[in-house]
Amino acid sequence: MTDFLVWQEGWNTDIPDIDKQHIAMANMLNQIVDALNQSDKGQKYEQELGRMLNDFLNVTREHFASEEEQMRQIDYPDYVEHKKEHLILQADLAQYILEIKRAKSGIDIGTLSALKHWFIAHITGEDKAFANYYHDKGLEGKKGSKRSESIETID
Ligand SMILES: [Fe+2]
Ligand SMILES: [Fe+2]
Repeated sequence: MTDFLVWQEGWNTDIPDIDKQHIAMANMLNQIVDALNQSDKGQKYEQELGRMLNDFLNVTREHFASEEEQMRQIDYPDYVEHKKEHLILQADLAQYILEIKRAKSGIDIGTLSALKHWFIAHITGEDKAFANYYHDKGLEGKKGSKRSESIETID
């Protein structure tokens, strides 16, 4: 497989579900670049790339939904901002796929590189910020639920 996007240990959030999904997304981007690099470029190739990009969009949507669910579970204070960022990225990706299909122009490595940089920037920025909160406060918050706190104050 191509070394377009080589996963770095430092990108791990240490939240197992999230890391698993991020790595799967990185692998999908590598596979898209692999397909792009194949010399035999026919209609079948275009269809295959279109399908792979659609899959990537779906997996991205599922990942965002799952990450947002984890944020809600621990009342993450930057939830709204993080979700807004997800919506923008998701819309950009959908628009990109639509343009490829409409123009029938195929995928260029420049746009895929932009996608890669977005992916890494989001993981090392917003996702890491969430992970820090999750590890510092989140698990603690989960143990002492709001319900038990309010019962304690009755005493
Ligand atoms: Fe995120
Ligand atoms: Fe993420």
